[in-house]
Amino acid sequence: MVQAKDKASIDQWYVIDTEAQIPFGSSANRLLGFDLKVVRSEAEGVTVYCAGRDEPLPIRQRFGFIWTTLGTPERDVFPMPEADEPDRRYVPCGVVSVKASGLRIVENFLDMAHFPFVHTDILGSEPHTEVEHYNVEIRRDVDEVWATNCQFFQPQAALSATEGIMTQYIYRVMTPFTTLLYKTCPNSANRWDLICLFVQPVDVDRCRAHPVMYLIDEVSTTSSLIEFQQLIFLQDRIILENQRPVLLPLEPRSEIPTRADASSIAYRRWLKEKGVTYGTSAQAA
Ligand SMILES: [Fe+2]
Repeated sequence: MVQAKDKASIDQWYVIDTEAQIPFGSSANRLLGFDLKVVRSEAEGVTVYCAGRDEPLPIRQRFGFIWTTLGTPERDVFPMPEADEPDRRYVPCGVVSVKASGLRIVENFLDMAHFPFVHTDILGSEPHTEVEHYNVEIRRDVDEVWATNCQFFQPQAALSATEGIMTQYIYRVMTPFTTLLYKTCPNSANRWDLICLFVQPVDVDRCRAHPVMYLIDEVSTTSSLIEFQQLIFLQDRIILENQRPVLLPLEPRSEIPTRADASSIAYRRWLKEKGVTYGTSAQAA
């Protein structure tokens, strides 16, 4: 599928892998329909080249990942102060390839309505299917989408949760393809667990999702934490790969919104304002 790339998508930082995942020597990767060559050496570290260009691409090392860009981002990789808190568990959850638009993945991440049906008896259960009122705003000062005051009854909100709890959520969309959520922490009354999702759009309808968590949890093993997150993400993947239309429609009339969709509506409006068309059904002229 060929689609012209919009400047708004080009001028962003994207994760291509964790540093640990990148093999020494030369390896292939892909971003926004461009082939990348990634070279890692003991002396030089990681260098990323884009097919057809001589100069290496800019890179950043943040949150354990290598970030790169094909354009000239207005801002650096977004801030996430919780990542620097020394007592948090840093849990990268591997990479999941998904045959879907990267924007669909972000939109699904923001959606609470699917919890009881897709993550049955984990993140939701019948009869607790109602999405209660929450607040959504495009924060102009930081140019991010935030959904606050979200809550949902969850049978097993986290691996460390021993019984069902009313879980509070705050969602944050930092860039068109990166998002995170703050979530009630079963182990601490006054702090949040963080779950981040960094999406690497490989092609308009294909991407690699890089989930990573920053948790307050001194007990669970790392492998069990990763397993828990991967189980949830694989349940999402089935839904995402069967969603139609494949590309995200930005026109409000093309799908009928419900109250649960408030964050999706704000997200789509924000994308449209920015001029993002990559991974949407709005074909660039
Ligand atoms: Fe989900």
